[in-house]
Amino acid sequence: MKEQQPIPFIDLGAQYETVKQPLEAAVLSVLRSQQFILGPTVKNFESACEAYCNVPFAMGVSSGTDALLIALMALGIGPGDEVIVPDFSFFATVGSVVRVGATPVFVDIDPATFNMDPAAVSAAITSATKAVIPVHLFGQCADMTSIVAIARKHGIFVIEDAAQAIGASCEAGNAGAIGDIGCFSFFPTKNLGGIGDGGLVTCQDPNLYNRLIQLRNHGSSPKYNHVLVGGNFRLDAIQAAALSVKLNYLDSWTKARREHASYYSASLQGIDGIELPTEVAGNKHVYHQYVIKVPGRRDELRRRLSDAGIGTEIYYPKPLHKQPCFQNTPDDHCPQAQHASESVLALPIFPELTKEQLDRICNAISELF
Ligand SMILES: Cc1ncc(COP(=O)(O)O)c(C=O)c1O
Repeated sequence: MKEQQPIPFIDLGAQYETVKQPLEAAVLSVLRSQQFILGPTVKNFESACEAYCNVPFAMGVSSGTDALLIALMALGIGPGDEVIVPDFSFFATVGSVVRVGATPVFVDIDPATFNMDPAAVSAAITSATKAVIPVHLFGQCADMTSIVAIARKHGIFVIEDAAQAIGASCEAGNAGAIGDIGCFSFFPTKNLGGIGDGGLVTCQDPNLYNRLIQLRNHGSSPKYNHVLVGGNFRLDAIQAAALSVKLNYLDSWTKARREHASYYSASLQGIDGIELPTEVAGNKHVYHQYVIKVPGRRDELRRRLSDAGIGTEIYYPKPLHKQPCFQNTPDDHCPQAQHASESVLALPIFPELTKEQLDRICNAISELF
């Protein structure tokens, strides 16, 4: 019998084969220009992102983490302010809040979507609340209609953590174009991934945009006159060149991710012991991850798949409030986030997966159950 090739969790090499020629040409042209920081290549990429996300202003930054940090800085959030965050996300969502000296307030998630529960947001608002950070986790928008309504009622800012959700949309609009500021990541494994770190901040208000532009470059305006204390949050031209090339492929990659998700959902439905991800009506999920829940048997399934040469990941193994750096936060306070962290398993969903690979994964799962 022919030995089967392993199926990696993600295969960036396969994507590289698709984009190799234009990507290498774009990077070479930056090298030849010797203009590495900001400049026209970054500006052109920002304009392309404004059109793609349907937002008036987009600004390239050094990472998704820095996008969140500069967003909080631009909105003047700091010591004494509370910022509401979901308890189930990548650490940067909350790390950025702590880094500006504000206090994170963790709220639970909706178990059907893994996203922040709007009722929990309402319940967490105090006179110190300054902002809320909905995360569009795994590529599906949080309930932005409800969250924006709550935020407007209480006069607080909405910062969208759209790091995993470029191209996603919901009834309230496109990811990153709904709140006061949107934050994206171009970490290489994201749906739109750079050839290193990179990120993007989007906003609607020209004054806020000007402030973001100043903060990105040490609050300088004009050069060597520092009106604000900012930082070096700049996106470099090599990243912008690579990302501009890849942006042309993003819709076709998203289409493939959505097709793989439908295939998984059709093949795995009805298996007792597995809960499948759901796409809320009116949402366009971009499936940065396809995450199933396997209560009680997650680790066993993961081992079985690994033995069959199939890569999986756990996003995320711990709710944020349980991270050792937040050890003073009371326990058991977000039961759905806790349950998710104990039962989630992300399956391979990269665009280049073949039907044969998807079948092998689904068969290996069915065999255990
Ligand atoms: C939800 C979320 N927020 C923020 C980030 C931070 O992005 P970056 O890794 O580009 O700093 C990531 C990505 O890793 C993420 O998944």
